[in-house]
Amino acid sequence: MMKKCCYLTIFVLLVHLELLAIEPVNATAKRVVVPQNPADYLSLTYYLNKCPDAEGIIQQKVGAWIQRDFTLAASLIRLHFHDCAVRGCDASILLNYKGSQRSSYVSSTLRGFQVIDDIKAELEKRCPRTVSCSDILTAVARDATVFTGGPFWEVPFGRKDGRISLAKEAEVVPQGHENVTALIEFFQTKGLNILDLVTLSGAHTIGRCTCGTILYRLYSFNGTKNPDPSLNTSYLNLLKKRCKRSTDLVYLDAITPETFDTVFYTNLQRKVGLLTTDQELYSDQRTLPFVEAMASQPFLFQNQLIVSMTNLGNVQVLIGNEGEREIGRERVFLGRDGRASCKGKAKHREAERRERKGQSIGF
Ligand code: HEM
Ligand SMILES: *[C@@H]1O[C@H](CO)[C@@H](O)[C@H](O)[C@H]1NC(C)=O
Ligand SMILES: *[C@@H]1O[C@H](CO)[C@@H](O)[C@H](O)[C@H]1NC(C)=O
Ligand SMILES: *[C@@H]1O[C@H](CO)[C@@H](O)[C@H](O)[C@H]1NC(C)=O
Repeated sequence: MMKKCCYLTIFVLLVHLELLAIEPVNATAKRVVVPQNPADYLSLTYYLNKCPDAEGIIQQKVGAWIQRDFTLAASLIRLHFHDCAVRGCDASILLNYKGSQRSSYVSSTLRGFQVIDDIKAELEKRCPRTVSCSDILTAVARDATVFTGGPFWEVPFGRKDGRISLAKEAEVVPQGHENVTALIEFFQTKGLNILDLVTLSGAHTIGRCTCGTILYRLYSFNGTKNPDPSLNTSYLNLLKKRCKRSTDLVYLDAITPETFDTVFYTNLQRKVGLLTTDQELYSDQRTLPFVEAMASQPFLFQNQLIVSMTNLGNVQVLIGNEGEREIGRERVFLGRDGRASCKGKAKHREAERRERKGQSIGF
């Protein structure tokens, strides 16, 4: 037992060192702080004694929800990204009150909150005040990836939940009209590199987007009255047909919208990327080689996704009091051991906001 623990600690240490090895180049990048106490690291055995069924319960719930509404799979993965992208993976995206990240207009297309609430409620019954919501979000994103045909990876646990959530901060998450430099810089502030950017963007191989986000590409690109020249013309015509209103939904991957595969990347090669931020990954010299590699080597994509999703789940995780003070962020935690629980029962206005059915595959 002792031996196993030590190996795991070393493993987790290595994961963190890998994170540290990515040197942020711009001034706004946050410094990654190494906690002195090994107990402050995330651990693969964190819930082994505290709540041994936690992962099983989460997986079972995710499966049941996705079976009822397949479109939730993509939404749940996105929720994890939007959590980690602001103040790190601390479940701050879940907090639901006026002025929180979730209340921001930029969060209005996020969904799947009811799934997290349901899992949290079940875990509170089974292991009260033990499993953090940020750990739940991370495991859920992994399970949703597996359910849609993506790879499995081990998730280390022990994240703490934050209690600060500010609407204004939600606006820093890229929204689809940024240039590649802005994307790279944003990812760097999270300790994620260009390869992580290209790989994690591959999550757009499933899921949907509201037409409002891309209408400018169809009718008034760059101040002209013309469509975006970087859009494949047959794809352009399809989108014009599908996007009658800005609230209509279109698939991010028009070819295999329900499968976690590499078609997202081959789409970019044929000018069939829905978001300009996706399409530009194939025209910028810094990202293009990675798109080519992913498009031609599904096995490489699977392996790198495991690495990059692990990196995402480690973004600015809350790690013991020393670490927090050094990072200089204000945090309040619930739970006896300081690692537990987001706020009680979250409301979910957005619950059934978006219609369940996607469009038929027609491209
Ligand atoms: C690189 C920067 C990114 C940008 C600019 C971006 C932008 C967007 C936009 C605009 C949408 C559609 C929202 C709408 O309904 O209007 C979307 C959806 C989505 N994003 Fe991203 N995203 C990025 C990164 C990521 C990452 C890192 C992940 C996960 C690892 C992710 C996962 C998803 C998923 C799965 C959906 C579909 C959600 C659904 O069907 O409900 N995105 N993204
Ligand atoms: C990219 O976006 C950033 C931030 O919005 C802007 O400052 C910069 O000028 C843009 N770069 C290019 C090449 O358009
Ligand atoms: C957008 O318009 C400006 C000025 O009209 C032009 O210089 C620029 O190249 C255009 N960008 C794209 C991507 O078409
Ligand atoms: C546009 O998409 C079609 C269908 O996927 C493809 O056959 C064609 O090569 C694409 N055109 C360009 C210019 O990439």
